[in-house]
Amino acid sequence: MYILREGTQRETGKGAYHNNIAAAVAIADTVRSTLGPKGMDKMMVDTMGDVVITNDGVTILKEMDVSHPAAKMMVEIAKVQDAESGDGTTTAVILGGELLKQAESLLEKGIHATTITAGYKRASEKALKVLDQLSDKVDRKDAVMLQKIASTSMMSKSVTGIRDFLAELAVKAVLAVAEDTKRGTKADLDNILVIKKHGGSARDTKMIEGVVIDKEVLHQSMPRHVHDARVLLLDAALEIKKTEVDAKITIDDPRKMQEFLAEEEATLRKMVETVKASGATVVICQKGIDDFAQHFLAKAGIMAMRRVKKSDMEKLAKATGASIVSRVQDLSKEDLGSAGRVEEQRIGSDLMTFVMDCTSAKAVSIIIRGGTEHVVDELDRSLHDALSVVSDVVEDGKIYTGAGAAAMELSLKLKEFAATVGGREQMAIDAYASAMEALPRALVENAGLDAIDILIELRKAHKNGQKNAGINLTTGKVEDMAAQNIIEPYRVGKQAIESSTDAAIMILRIDDVIAAKDFSKGGGPPGGPGGMPPGMGGMPPGMGGM
Ligand SMILES: Nc1ncnc2c1ncn2[C@@H]1O[C@H](COP(=O)(O)OP(=O)(O)O)[C@@H](O)[C@H]1O
Ligand SMILES: [Mg+2]
Repeated sequence: MYILREGTQRETGKGAYHNNIAAAVAIADTVRSTLGPKGMDKMMVDTMGDVVITNDGVTILKEMDVSHPAAKMMVEIAKVQDAESGDGTTTAVILGGELLKQAESLLEKGIHATTITAGYKRASEKALKVLDQLSDKVDRKDAVMLQKIASTSMMSKSVTGIRDFLAELAVKAVLAVAEDTKRGTKADLDNILVIKKHGGSARDTKMIEGVVIDKEVLHQSMPRHVHDARVLLLDAALEIKKTEVDAKITIDDPRKMQEFLAEEEATLRKMVETVKASGATVVICQKGIDDFAQHFLAKAGIMAMRRVKKSDMEKLAKATGASIVSRVQDLSKEDLGSAGRVEEQRIGSDLMTFVMDCTSAKAVSIIIRGGTEHVVDELDRSLHDALSVVSDVVEDGKIYTGAGAAAMELSLKLKEFAATVGGREQMAIDAYASAMEALPRALVENAGLDAIDILIELRKAHKNGQKNAGINLTTGKVEDMAAQNIIEPYRVGKQAIESSTDAAIMILRIDDVIAAKDFSKGGGPPGGPGGMPPGMGGMPPGMGGM
């Protein structure tokens, strides 16, 4: 009797563990060499020959063409880490890989996966407590400290020379949008619009208060500056709708032709009249605006921009307090938002529109400049990390020391904890503690230093109570790295512990890998982040060992 279709790929028990772990570890090994200030870059080349050069964990993993299901879960760790904290993606993936490597040797010793996952869960809970205790509370608005945070996050990026400049910019931008609410301080990165414009030099990168849209004013005779603007955000075209079907109208009389055009014109004129009647002085449209409509708007002294990105429209809505209108007929005064100034300015060789002094929410824009597109892209990724870590600390007000200090402290405290647990679970907690050491080890190895001696030294320092002892990767000495300004947000470490543990546990619980029907066609997809890929056509050779 066949339960599965003949020839179905299936891998159970030890084989399933082994293959999943091997795939996940392979992913971690790929990004390991990029960790830290001495990490190397990766060059990603796609089938079209396009190239991305980066050191950024999540970017590397997103660009990699990964097919193994367990490997995909590792990519998922990086994505979750990035979404939740904005930095520490390589750290989280290395930790996830190391947890699995340690688990494999426990499995070989005959310890059951359930025991390992239970131990890992307990260890991660303890790790979160320890991290919380070793983190320092800081003043959330302390610009000098925030700059150190931003600077640490960009240590591994190729932005040497302008790191301080970018760190200062990131702090300025985040503090500009930070708001004290009843539920604590919020620094929503959605209120920071980042625009990439290659050309000029990286030092021309600047912050502007307000929302900048990469569009020029539509018509020659429209105003270039509007003060105390009433802003209409429109998600409908100011055009005559094209018919769905191809219709042919035969006009045999020139007067009829004129009537036909006049009617179109009248419709557009009516639309513009409605806009004008609402009191709008600036129209920002997500769709098109027809020539006639442009002309009528210009005549009414209204400034207009068209084909603005949806994401920009959302930022504008937040900043100006306007609601996005999707039918001109439904337009009312209440839909309009306001801005102190709207004006067109030249950035490099392009004209852009600046919506400034907005009344509803604080919003700022950062225009990234740089010699080439590659430079601008890497600046964007660096700035993303810097903005994220600054906003993490502005919101949480908690930091710890990097450069391997926190990781070693966690490892040590977890080893002490394991000793109090006893039994087989102790072995799993101990393994978890050992996995933590993979982080300082990778930092040291990437710097071309001798890992064995330095790790012994580092362990000793922490045993002696020096919780901020980390590795100075330039000298190879173990020293107080908080004094060297290598500090990181609590949220990054917390998230790295959570997402790496979750992924490791999820992978360890799988004891059966079965090629499934295409999930996108039949039934629903299985739960869990990342899920399994549709079909398992992508199973590597060696997985079909039935
Ligand atoms: N100057 C430094 N000396 C030692 N370690 C550093 C230094 N700067 C950053 N680090 C460490 O590098 C690690 C971050 O490296 P990074 O390549 O940015 O990876 P991730 O993607 O995990 O953020 C952190 O552990 C951080 O403490
Ligand atoms: Mg980083």
